[in-house]
Amino acid sequence: MKKVYLDYAATTPLDNEVKKAMELYQTVEFGNASSLHSFGQIARSAIEKARQQVADFLHCQVTEVTFCGSATEANNLAIFGIVKATQKRGLKPHIITSVIEHPAVLEPFKMLAKLGVEVDYCSVDQQGIVKIAELEKLIKLNTVLVSVMYANNEIGTIQPIAEIANLLKQRKAKIFFHTDAVQAVNYLDCDVVKLGVDLLTFSGHKIYGPKGVGVLLVKKGINLEPIILGGHQENGLRGGTENVAGIVGLGQAIKGINNYELRITNSEKIKSLRDKLMDGILQKISGTSLNGSREKRLPNNVNISFGGVEGESILMALDQEGICVSTGSACASGSLDPSHVLMAIGLSHQKAHGSIRFTLGKTTTEKEIDSVLKVLPNIIKRLRAISPFK
Ligand SMILES: Cc1ncc(COP(=O)(O)O)c(C=O)c1O
Repeated sequence: MKKVYLDYAATTPLDNEVKKAMELYQTVEFGNASSLHSFGQIARSAIEKARQQVADFLHCQVTEVTFCGSATEANNLAIFGIVKATQKRGLKPHIITSVIEHPAVLEPFKMLAKLGVEVDYCSVDQQGIVKIAELEKLIKLNTVLVSVMYANNEIGTIQPIAEIANLLKQRKAKIFFHTDAVQAVNYLDCDVVKLGVDLLTFSGHKIYGPKGVGVLLVKKGINLEPIILGGHQENGLRGGTENVAGIVGLGQAIKGINNYELRITNSEKIKSLRDKLMDGILQKISGTSLNGSREKRLPNNVNISFGGVEGESILMALDQEGICVSTGSACASGSLDPSHVLMAIGLSHQKAHGSIRFTLGKTTTEKEIDSVLKVLPNIIKRLRAISPFK
């Protein structure tokens, strides 16, 4: 049975070009980039080449690119880094984020709140778009950071980042603006000048690059306190011997998508398959509804609630057919919590529990979409017949 992978928001396979680029630095050129001899210098120049590739994509200076161990770490560095730098100046920071962020942002906020930092969460409308008027009201004289994701990982909703940046720029005191662009990088314009952000995060493994490497863009002049202490690597912002092969792979992956025409073509192709899947499910299966915005949505995301049935059961039944998808639920401490994102857009517990996320990738085919549309109606019918939710 040929498997159908529809979980590209979770992770993506390595591109062949990326694999090829990385191989050399895993074996022959294995030097430590901090070493002064030629092995070290070759590793160093490979890292700097990747940094340039990222800078070209983000339209920023090379010195503004910091490599980290993941996007989770990059988000932590952005948030703790700004807060700690503010506290170091003897000030009491206030920070704001949205209720639908990834845990890599929400958990640092939770921890900082526990440590006594003033924290606020901005709600979203029923489509998952941040309520800008509410955000504006949350801003205080001591607000130092606003963090709003570019596109949501569960429902694919795209946030008005440039609009939020403009709003923040109108304030007298500087408010740093961070965006988690992990899910956006494959499809959306990430020119940081146009976006107007100060800090931006993304990850290698969501863009057909390697796992275990992420990027934090920090605009020139912003003072961040490091959270990992040790070596002087990454300009003192991130101690630890650099993952040279991983960084080279990330650079190659970003180079691969830094082609405007190719991005548009890929996005259009994926979008038409997405629409076929979305409309197919909504039309063929009764009691279904789309979660998130139809228009302001990533081209690869479909998130649907199936009334009267558990998402976990759908996932397992699809897996038995070789189709790999994801639910919005997170198994926490033995209990199955509904997705905080689906709850934030106003879904009931039951609807949130009955949701499935399908995320398409650049190699997704029409045949694969057809196979989902063929098996899914029967799966739902069968599960509904035995569901305790009826
Ligand atoms: C929006 C978003 N932010 C952050 C992360 C974390 O990325 P990483 O796996 O590189 O830590 C993810 C991963 O799913 C994500 O979707």
